[in-house]
Amino acid sequence: MNQDNPQEKLKALVGRAALEFVVPGALVGVGTGSTVNHFIDALAAMKQQIRGAVSSSKASTERLQRHGITVFDTTEVQSLPVYVDGADEIDGSGCMIKGGGAALTREKIVADLAERFICIADVSKRVEVLGAFALPVEVIPMAVPQVVRRFAALGGVATLRAGVLTDNGHPLLDVRGLRISDPMAMETEVNQWPGVVTVGIFARHRAQVCLLGTTSGVQRLDFLRP
Ligand code: 5RP
Repeated sequence: MNQDNPQEKLKALVGRAALEFVVPGALVGVGTGSTVNHFIDALAAMKQQIRGAVSSSKASTERLQRHGITVFDTTEVQSLPVYVDGADEIDGSGCMIKGGGAALTREKIVADLAERFICIADVSKRVEVLGAFALPVEVIPMAVPQVVRRFAALGGVATLRAGVLTDNGHPLLDVRGLRISDPMAMETEVNQWPGVVTVGIFARHRAQVCLLGTTSGVQRLDFLRP
């Protein structure tokens, strides 16, 4: 991590700010990515005050455990008060594109256990309409060509992320050229396509709060549930 990088400083700022949402005595859901890494490092300072964490990736699990934070499996947990994660893009209603770090499926599973999704992001992630960032989609290999054709019919160009498999052992498509003006409708549609494991649109599991790192400090955005 380059501490002199301005974007990295904003990520560290919101990573620390998210600690105020961690519920003492409870488990906390932990996402994946460079912003979340700052959150994990900050969380280490209050590890005695929490029961432990539920993690969305092998990378986050390893980082949590290096800090001596106990990591619970999702199968052991029925609910979480809070899930903290980053985003590749977030719009004005809290809908997000996620999966730039290939962890979208586990992220959605852990987010689904949580009462509140706290998104932490630097200001560059805030967009009016989702889609400038290539949309990640985890797929079953035998369905790749037909999923690519379905995106083409919507005006999207889907390409395999070279050399990457998810923690679940599946390939990822990155879809460019989409303008996702109705994230809920597109998430619902793509979820129906055979062979799609997870689409990186988080509309059903949108953020309730976003802590946005700006040069003038942390801006808090609150969103209504769908
Ligand atoms: C990983 C994710 C990340 O939250 C997203 O890619 C943002 O990452 P970063 O904090 O490194 O910018 O969805 O699958």
